[in-house]
Amino acid sequence: MLLKLNKKGKIMELEEIQKYIKKQLSEKRYYHSVCVMERSRELAKKYGADIKIAEKIGIAHDVAKEMSEEEKLKYVKDNNIKIDDTERKNTSLLHAKIGKDIAIKQFGFSENMGQAIANHTTGNKDMDIYSKILFIADRTSRDRKFEDLEYLNEITNKSIDEAVLYILDKKIELQIKKKAPIHINGIIARNYMLEEMI
Ligand SMILES: [Fe+2]
Ligand SMILES: [Fe+2]
Repeated sequence: MLLKLNKKGKIMELEEIQKYIKKQLSEKRYYHSVCVMERSRELAKKYGADIKIAEKIGIAHDVAKEMSEEEKLKYVKDNNIKIDDTERKNTSLLHAKIGKDIAIKQFGFSENMGQAIANHTTGNKDMDIYSKILFIADRTSRDRKFEDLEYLNEITNKSIDEAVLYILDKKIELQIKKKAPIHINGIIARNYMLEEMI
């Protein structure tokens, strides 16, 4: 169940968002969120983005991750969020779109900040610096144990776009290995990044 907040019409302070996330999520997921916030801070520093904005997006990104399938489907219906067939069949993807909606309505995020959350599972076209930071932070935060972490960090140190492309490739490869559907936004994101990098 989502906790209700009073809307003040302005973006909430990091500490307030963090408190909300702590109440909303399990200990493990909260820890992941803190790790993504910290990694987002590092990446924002490195790539010259606004640190506070990157931290807020990082701590908030999985706000909807632990909603049940039923709650997610009800939320998208009640809030007129359009979803496609892939998302309907794999509702874990939906925590990105719902997370965006919650972040805008509850935390006062701007459209762009919210969009970074919407983009964090599959990627998308037109990913701005905050979308890219979250996309990488979610894969390279210190709670993650991917075996290619060191290699990915090396890529990230050289080029943010190369790192986004690498993660997109890995996500798509994983879906192929699992014989699972690939969300169309993953393909769109990959084509977009390839064109951007020419
Ligand atoms: Fe997520
Ligand atoms: Fe995450």
